[in-house]
Amino acid sequence: MAGYLDRIGAGLVLKDVEPLSFDYIPKSLVGRDDKLVDLATIFSTIILPETSCNVLITGPVGSGKTALAKVFAKDIELNFSNKRKISHVHINCRNFNTTPQVLHKVITKLDPGYPVRGLSSSEVLSSIRKILRNLNQHFLIILDEVNHILMKEGNDILYKLLRIDEDKQGKGTLSLILISQEEIVLNLLEGAVISRLGIGNHIRLSGYNKNGLFEIAKQRAELSLFNESYDDEVLDLIATSASSKGDARNVLHLIEGAAKNAEKDGRKNIIPEDIQTISSKEVVAVEPHVVDNLRPHLQLLLLAICRRLKKESEITSGDAEQLYKVVCEEYNQTPKGHTTLWKYIKDLENNDFISSKYGSMPQGRGRTQLLSMPNILPSDLINRLELNLNRQFNI
Ligand SMILES: Nc1ncnc2c1ncn2[C@@H]1O[C@H](COP(=O)(O)OP(=O)(O)OP(=O)(O)O)[C@@H](O)[C@H]1O
Ligand SMILES: [Mg+2]
Repeated sequence: MAGYLDRIGAGLVLKDVEPLSFDYIPKSLVGRDDKLVDLATIFSTIILPETSCNVLITGPVGSGKTALAKVFAKDIELNFSNKRKISHVHINCRNFNTTPQVLHKVITKLDPGYPVRGLSSSEVLSSIRKILRNLNQHFLIILDEVNHILMKEGNDILYKLLRIDEDKQGKGTLSLILISQEEIVLNLLEGAVISRLGIGNHIRLSGYNKNGLFEIAKQRAELSLFNESYDDEVLDLIATSASSKGDARNVLHLIEGAAKNAEKDGRKNIIPEDIQTISSKEVVAVEPHVVDNLRPHLQLLLLAICRRLKKESEITSGDAEQLYKVVCEEYNQTPKGHTTLWKYIKDLENNDFISSKYGSMPQGRGRTQLLSMPNILPSDLINRLELNLNRQFNI
């Protein structure tokens, strides 16, 4: 067998790639208990006969809206099956953006072979109702990215679904979960639809902060990577790197990319560079040429930090100061004082070169500022900085 094929199935770092797919829904969500409680409160009567509940979920990209709705739907389907038969369908209105397409998707979920050809929307709708009532089943429809259909067709589909039981015997056939990235969706919804949905039935998610992303990274790493291949430091760098956008998808992308980079090198463990290589490709905010405009001593400090971060994922601010002095000596420059350096560190952070947090000193000697470089590959900057500094100081 050709040597290069050894890599296939070698599984040095990646145990199972499936949990890293964007569509994978974990058994439980991390850090969204409060939002699940909010949902359960809005749906508190769902297990009673003849009831419906509706909700609108909004939040930025990758804040877990789809995951929240799917986990919730699955949980109520499984946990209350002895009280009320509930099933659900998830429809992404980006792909199904007309009323007939949505209704078709609903009815084929209930009866895959249902002959819908030639039927009007109201005929399909009454068939949906008939099937559900015959099955004595309640149906939860998740209309994801609902803004797409609202922009294209207005509120018609929502009126149709919300009024499915009107003028008929019995209520509570359907419940709706509407999802949209933007709160602008509220402007697209007509007053009558909002009042039918219930004005207070709106759950707002915010983007994840670094801690939230760390917990998500931890959960997915446990499912997809071999135990010994990563540690909290690696997960921390991944979370820091993803935190500029707060999008959980970035975490998955970084774990997979870092694992593949490690495997490509024939290693069994992920190192900071495996992550930095990907984030440096992703984040265009800091291009190597940006360093050209930094003041000379900022460049000296950055060079000192980069040299250490080439080998390690973090450096304390104290070590950065010591290494800066060494670099100053190398370029025959008098080092700036402590206060100025502290300001320089802030400058580098504000310009997205580095990221800082407070943490324990390496040997447990109290707390200190820890600097890392989640968005750039230090070695990319080192060459550029050395070139610049050699030119400026005639070396
Ligand atoms: N709290 C969480 N716990 C575990 N995984 C999560 C959590 N939040 C999000 N994820 C995962 O992150 C990825 C992105 O989440 P999701 O698709 O739900 O985001 P979204 O808000 O629907 O984004 P978009 O606006 O782009 O549709 C999914 O793989 C999801 O499973
Ligand atoms: Mg989504």
